[in-house]
Amino acid sequence: MENQEIQQEVYSMPRIGDQAPDFTATTTKGQVTLSDFAKDKWIVFFSHPADFTPVCTTEMSGFAQRKKEFDDLNTELLGLSIDSIHAHLGWVSNVKEKTGVYFDFPIIADLDMSVSKKYGMLQPNEAETAAVRAVFFIDPKKKIRLVMYYPLNVGRNMDEILRALKALQVSDQHKVALPLDWKPGEQVIVPPPKTLEEMDKRNKETGIDRIDFYLSKKDLKL
Ligand code: BEZ
Repeated sequence: MENQEIQQEVYSMPRIGDQAPDFTATTTKGQVTLSDFAKDKWIVFFSHPADFTPVCTTEMSGFAQRKKEFDDLNTELLGLSIDSIHAHLGWVSNVKEKTGVYFDFPIIADLDMSVSKKYGMLQPNEAETAAVRAVFFIDPKKKIRLVMYYPLNVGRNMDEILRALKALQVSDQHKVALPLDWKPGEQVIVPPPKTLEEMDKRNKETGIDRIDFYLSKKDLKL
């Protein structure tokens, strides 16, 4: 191995709590610079492996058909794949013609893979030239708050994407945590006490469902 260098490109994988890596990219709606995009809004930034493929078509159609729900959650959609802008335009118009569903959100044409590499969407042991199915939930301060990575052969779940987005927003707004399988309208977790004094208070608190000092739930008026 002397004098022999092992070439291994290291791609970053942004983590929860990181500032979302900035970029400028060509999209189906013109140039987008992430730091200027969707001011004061949440962003659901997602990648798909390739245009004109079946699972991707179902997923993109799912985002398009439920766009109003994202709008209602003050959230912009931003897609990406390692395809040309011409492929994107052809696919968007083909799906509209065949199914009536219109992908009315920007889709990045990441032919040089620069954005995919910044976001860990290119995972070479899964595919060397196609992005995996990633979803980044980016808050209005451009912080990454939740990350999903799915492989090429498994489509994502739109109910879960919307549920997770709503859960992040409810958690921020009401300073609560959300339990297993939480859905809007269900009880939320009251943050557990951090001191003995807070624990004594919690043990006497009324109006909450207390199982013990560390596990209490309450109704939330949304
Ligand atoms: C699909 O979307 O169907 C797909 C894309 C790339 C690899 C495998 C499946």
